Amino acid sequence: NNYVVIMAGGVGTRFWPFSRTNNPKQFHDVLGTGRTLLQQTADRFEGICLPENIYIVTSDIYVDLVKQQLPFLKDEQILMEPCRKNTAPCVAYASFKIASLNPDANIVVAPADHIILKEETFKDKIKICLVESEKNGAIVTLGIRPTRPDTGYGYIQFEQNEKAEVLKVESFREKPNLALANEFIASGNYVWNAGIFIWTAKTIKKAFFDYSTALANIFEKGNEYYYRLEEQGFINEIYPSCESISIDYAILEKANNVYVVLGDIGWSDLGTWKSLYEVSAKDESNTVVDGNVMLYNVKNTIVKTPKERLVVVHGLDGYIIAEFDNVLMICQKEQEQQVKTFVADAAKID
Ligand code: GDD
Ligand code: MG
Repeated sequence: NNYVVIMAGGVGTRFWPFSRTNNPKQFHDVLGTGRTLLQQTADRFEGICLPENIYIVTSDIYVDLVKQQLPFLKDEQILMEPCRKNTAPCVAYASFKIASLNPDANIVVAPADHIILKEETFKDKIKICLVESEKNGAIVTLGIRPTRPDTGYGYIQFEQNEKAEVLKVESFREKPNLALANEFIASGNYVWNAGIFIWTAKTIKKAFFDYSTALANIFEKGNEYYYRLEEQGFINEIYPSCESISIDYAILEKANNVYVVLGDIGWSDLGTWKSLYEVSAKDESNTVVDGNVMLYNVKNTIVKTPKERLVVVHGLDGYIIAEFDNVLMICQKEQEQQVKTFVADAAKID
């Protein structure tokens, strides 16, 4: 009865120029392992869920990429969004569909753009989450010990309990401001939300009816199509009317039957260049190199450029040098939040 829903429709703007609207980072082999982030995500659930129970939710423009990268999928396992509405409609669509196919389904929802280095620990934790969600009808998340007051994450306040593996969540706060994030880190009983959710089809449907009723009503109407696997016309018609909101704001911040399992799973959200820099192997000058590169007096830098081009760098400390598909970006590492501006400005020229 286990199902996995992989959310793979984001654009990953902060990873530009590597991540592009027509080919976002989840479809890239970011770490150079031979598998893309999407493929690694699907691989990770081997032994937890049958391949025929994996569903990918993505934008219609990425369907071909998904098919190429995961050729075992049948067409009906790729759920196609006609427009981008963030993760709440994406989760609602998948949950209502799976519930109509199998009312007793257990569902793991996972983002397509993370890395998890400790696969075995990850599987063990997911199994614990699955048991808890089925037994108690709970919403269960994976929590990661925070290392910095990052404002790009959700923060989970949990009840301390030395003896339990599954901890009650007291509050969930999505993307706090820096002052709050600092407070959370100082208090010690907050963890980051890994963005991976475990619940039964019944639990998540009820949560939508309780906290995001408009979306629940919309996707409930699809029941007459889902089981015939003929819902595309319906989805294309209703999707534009869905509220654009993330699952974190729509459900997690509001629900009260939320539990968290803490895990040292080697997790990283490859959200930004700095996060890739942090997880990558560095040379003696703390530099990360992926490409055909000659370095002179370069420190604390990440270079990721196409193999076909020889890149020579002299005298830089703390930079991102990234080239992909005819765009070269050179940016101070500490200023990487500027990437969003570059993307917006470049779109005006394109
Ligand atoms: N199908 C679909 N449609 N997928 C989407 C959409 C959409 O409209 N928007 C985003 N996604 C996918 C992304 O590709 C990614 O895999 C996942 O959903 C999460 O979306 P992000 O946009 O990356 O979310 P975030 O990183 O800002 O925040 C979430 O993840 C953090 C951990 O990485 C939240 O859950 C935070 O609470 C969490 O800490
Ligand atoms: Mg993310």
